[in-house]
Amino acid sequence: MAQVILENIYKSYTPSITQTKSKAETQNLVTPESVLRRINLTVNDGEFMVLVGASGCGKSTLLRLIAGLETLTAGNISIGEKLVNNLPPKERDIAMVFQSYALYPHMRVYDNIAFGLRRSQSLDTLALASKPDGLPPQLENFLVEISRRFPRGFRYISPREKIIAKKVLQVAEMLQIEGLLNRFPKQLSGGQKQRVALGRAIARDAQVFLMDEPLSNLDAKLRAETRTQIVKLQRQLGTTTIYVTHDQTEAMTMGDRIAVMNQGQIQQVDTPLAIYNHPANIFVAQFIGSPPMNLIPVQVKLPLSIGNNQFRITLAEEWEAVLSEYSNRSLVMGLRPEHLTLGLPATKNFCGIVETVEALGNDTYVSVKIQGLEPPNLIMQVRVAPDKSVKVGEEVWLSSTIDKIHLFDRDTGLALRVEGRG
Ligand SMILES: Nc1ncnc2c1ncn2[C@@H]1O[C@H](COP(=O)(O)OP(=O)(O)OP(=O)(O)O)[C@@H](O)[C@H]1O
Ligand SMILES: [Mg+2]
Repeated sequence: MAQVILENIYKSYTPSITQTKSKAETQNLVTPESVLRRINLTVNDGEFMVLVGASGCGKSTLLRLIAGLETLTAGNISIGEKLVNNLPPKERDIAMVFQSYALYPHMRVYDNIAFGLRRSQSLDTLALASKPDGLPPQLENFLVEISRRFPRGFRYISPREKIIAKKVLQVAEMLQIEGLLNRFPKQLSGGQKQRVALGRAIARDAQVFLMDEPLSNLDAKLRAETRTQIVKLQRQLGTTTIYVTHDQTEAMTMGDRIAVMNQGQIQQVDTPLAIYNHPANIFVAQFIGSPPMNLIPVQVKLPLSIGNNQFRITLAEEWEAVLSEYSNRSLVMGLRPEHLTLGLPATKNFCGIVETVEALGNDTYVSVKIQGLEPPNLIMQVRVAPDKSVKVGEEVWLSSTIDKIHLFDRDTGLALRVEGRG
């Protein structure tokens, strides 16, 4: 187990010259494309860190850099207090699940999972010390079956292999692929391959697990189950884990902490709830939370009033100091759909017309076209209780309690923070 420290990581790719047409174009292309810029992140020993961000923001690149599969343009990577910048992947003691499974096509599922284990030296010590009994009958049969691949007289199964087999079965059961151990990767569905790849990484005793969207091909039910299993297993093993996803539900439910990425930079690192309650900027505010946070431009009137031509809200006194710098300027107000209520007309409210109603069963999402606001046609999403009757075309009033309001600087996108609030 180990801490992973990323310091001022930069990564650029030089565009391929073969794609260019003329000399002039070639010269224009000498500036390399920056994929990662100034990444600083410390993943603590035993921590489950989730990297979340939109497609193309550099998540896989960062993971591949940590694994040693790409070279750094600048910066330092340490694993367990050891600088690993120049170490080849196999000396970094990491186990990685790739976004594109990368299974060994000529090996059965069993051997794919056992692959990393076979190379582990700690197994020899275990094998010498242990009594190789107590294999479940299913596995005993399986071992007999695989030993048939060898000529008679060579079908002896070593104590070491029995330990490997036990571990493989344990992992396979956890991932519900125990019935597939004797198949080749080409005989599996995408979701099954993904679970084998996950099993191969988990079965190894690595210092660090790196997982690149390992659940993206699973159906919703299996995805939720496997998510819980991975978290449970990670807690048991205590292995430092960096998990990449673009799914914010996965990020919120799995991570001890989340690092939100955008365009090659980390926007915020914190616990899931801290990120949800106090997003550092507009990007994070919109990325975490579903449906995303509603954003409304407002003007500031000191000491404590914000609003526009349709409504005006007086904020709590704690905002006074921070608002004083924004006299007569614009800010962006953020309100989450779950913090808005449909209510009776009042001056604090927005008035609008219901555009769509999506009933999901446990929740209903209503989108409301706000009237008389800039930009025109501003649509706000509201989450309402499923028993609430709302009809398309109806006029409704939206309100929110003032303690759920987020404010952002319109130019920098950064959140305004009230001193002393968590
Ligand atoms: N070998 C390469 N050469 C040039 N550009 C690359 C290379 N590999 C990745 N990129 C670019 O780097 C950026 C980040 O890619 P990366 O694969 O890290 O994204 P990602 O966040 O994992 O996205 P996704 O969620 O779609 O997997 C992309 O714009 C991609 O086009
Ligand atoms: Mg990726």
